[in-house]
Amino acid sequence: MQVDDTPTQERLQARFDRMVADEVRIEPRDWMPEGYRRTLIRQIAQHAHSEIIGMQPEGNWITRAPSLRRKAILMAKVQDEAGHGLYLYSAAETLGVDREELLDLLHSGKQKYSSIFNYPTLTWADMGAIGWLVDGAAIMNQVPLCRCSYGPYGRAMVRICKEESFHQRQGFEILHTLSHGTPAQKAMAQDAVDRFWWPSLMMFGPPDSASTHSERSMAWGIKRFSNDELRQRFVDMTVPQAEALGLTLPDPDLRWDEESGHYAFGEIDWSELDRVIRGDGPCNAQRIERRRTAHEEGAWVRESAAAYARKHAATSSAAGETAA
Ligand SMILES: [Fe+2]
Ligand SMILES: [Fe+2]
Repeated sequence: MQVDDTPTQERLQARFDRMVADEVRIEPRDWMPEGYRRTLIRQIAQHAHSEIIGMQPEGNWITRAPSLRRKAILMAKVQDEAGHGLYLYSAAETLGVDREELLDLLHSGKQKYSSIFNYPTLTWADMGAIGWLVDGAAIMNQVPLCRCSYGPYGRAMVRICKEESFHQRQGFEILHTLSHGTPAQKAMAQDAVDRFWWPSLMMFGPPDSASTHSERSMAWGIKRFSNDELRQRFVDMTVPQAEALGLTLPDPDLRWDEESGHYAFGEIDWSELDRVIRGDGPCNAQRIERRRTAHEEGAWVRESAAAYARKHAATSSAAGETAA
């Protein structure tokens, strides 16, 4: 009989590497390298935070939606985003962190959320631009995550992506209606697209040459495509849609490039992204303040739920004793 005397750590690492290479999902019960766990916690938490902070710019328009139908759609969308936050916090918890701890990190500014939600929503047309561009960019980022090597994250993304495509369609439809309405409505739609276009391109993160986490995440099967690849796909998908809407994209350098088979686009102002990430965007302070207040005001809900769970556990353990 042959005895395998490789140290346990090495064997575990080899098994993990093999699973990733064979595209076998890593589950919470499996051994994983500490860096993989930490990277996933950071990414999933940031994603969860983005979902719940992302409710604010659109929640801003629920009371002012132009019709009952628009209001019902917008409410459903904002509720979906809350649901996405829940799936994702749950997925993060399977990695051994506590939701409370993640929320503390968000509230203290130690963990980030997507920079796009630090821009204000000034007109109703912004609901269209967010759905079409922001949810559209989110889909581009998230569809490959359905194949993420970590099971709970990949499975959460499948459902999220289905809902995101509804979000994108409703945004497109808002803009289509405005763009084919009065000249003032069309101008409002164009203005919203002008303001959200560049920040949407920044949602894919810094250029590959400056992206710190990309390579490792690709090797681990967390990320499938680089930031620049996803950004290019987004531009290629969106330009024909803008034409269908009868709206223009605010980039004089945007043109079809025969040679590469892609749309070429202008230089992104990365200093703006740096500024917004550092906390200096138009709405950073307001978003975090609102989130902290909502958390404090919701304390009684968490306390009641915990008290109910304790009572329920006490009753069922008493019932268990009787049965025994
Ligand atoms: Fe979402
Ligand atoms: Fe969405």
